[in-house]
Amino acid sequence: MNDFMYHNPDKVYFGKAQIQHLPAELRQFGKNVLLVYGGGSIKKNGIYDTVLSCLVKEGFILTELSGVEPNPRHTTVNRGAAICKQADIDVVLAVGGGSTIDCAKGIAAAAETADGNVWPLVEQKIWITKALPVVAVLTNAATGSEMDAWAVISNMDTNEKIGLGGSALIPRAAFENPEYSYSLPIYQTACGSFDIFNHVLDNYYFSQDAAFDMILEFQEAVMRAVVKWAPIAMKEPQNYEARANLMWASSLALNGILDAGMMHDCACHAMEHELSAYYDITHGHGLAILTPRWLTYLLDEETAPAIHRLGTAVFGIEKAIRPMIGAKQTIEAVSDFCFQTLGLTATLSELGITDEHFAEMAKHACGGRSLSGIKTLSSADIEKIYRMCL
Ligand code: NZQ
Ligand code: ZN
Repeated sequence: MNDFMYHNPDKVYFGKAQIQHLPAELRQFGKNVLLVYGGGSIKKNGIYDTVLSCLVKEGFILTELSGVEPNPRHTTVNRGAAICKQADIDVVLAVGGGSTIDCAKGIAAAAETADGNVWPLVEQKIWITKALPVVAVLTNAATGSEMDAWAVISNMDTNEKIGLGGSALIPRAAFENPEYSYSLPIYQTACGSFDIFNHVLDNYYFSQDAAFDMILEFQEAVMRAVVKWAPIAMKEPQNYEARANLMWASSLALNGILDAGMMHDCACHAMEHELSAYYDITHGHGLAILTPRWLTYLLDEETAPAIHRLGTAVFGIEKAIRPMIGAKQTIEAVSDFCFQTLGLTATLSELGITDEHFAEMAKHACGGRSLSGIKTLSSADIEKIYRMCL
């Protein structure tokens, strides 16, 4: 177990009647609020009206930035930063999923720079310690952005999708009402659920080296919750317990608790971000296609016990069998979860992706070096994994 410092200042209001606390949370920063949202789902499901009605009567001055794209663009972030400068914005309020929250974080950081341009911060991997405060109202259980220090911003001109991190990007407060995710399409529920699952899995293997069972078991509990509740949320979109379990799992998976004392790793994520950067696909779907192939590629006598343990703890695979057999059954179970239970298509070809850019994507994914994890992956390894997904 490594030394660690854990500090997460995000105040989470979880449940049905918590939005009433939104005005008090915003007021401490000022009256001028930039309301950031996506392509309009919050207008259809009534969340926009709920937020507006609780803010307008309290005298807040709202300026809006709408139309944040899934896989948010740096150009949209820069538009938001320009508004912050012009309208003297005090706090950025994101109402939406990970894309909207990430865009709000990018805006908050860029607004504090002289030229209001987020891309140099992203490109130079500057750790953000100064940003406008961000408050999030979450509508999609998926990315963990509501409680983490990261934003992922895309530059479609250069086919780059890169994480921007910083302590100042952690939302000051997050409102998590599971009912706000009732209106999610089944496909987004599936993709978001698998994103949560993979946030834990990407780090799970490192934990095997540490004599730190408590964290391993926490990780397994979160993955088990996703496997249990995602299909229920897909069949019964208004099942509160299912939505609540997924929403809190989303936050727990990436708020630092599950990897405190561990190495943080993100091999599948690094590979997936290239897919979204080149082909603008849905993040969780890309992860679902990659993950079983990644596990297959990793499998050998050394990794089999860890993969088998995942299977026993999360998918009910038998314990008393040879690790190699157990590991193979586990990979099958992960695959079934992705492509049967969640109903996601299983190949990159079905998303219109060919091998045209695999070599350059593989190089970007590992930053020209290698990806760490239970096994180190070179760009040649990554390219082979992409090919297994065709
Ligand atoms: O744009 P709107 O109209 O809001 O519609 C969205 C969008 O079309 C819709 N949606 C969200 N909540 C809804 C809803 N529709 C109906 N009812 C609701 N309650 O769902 C679609 C997808 O939304 P998006 O925000 O893009 O999804 P998600 O939350 O999965 O976010 C994905 C982005 O987050 C990044 C991903 O790479 C991707 O860019 N990630 C951010 C991370 C972080 N900040 O730490 C880590 C993750 O690994 C991930 O990389
Ligand atoms: Zn993710």
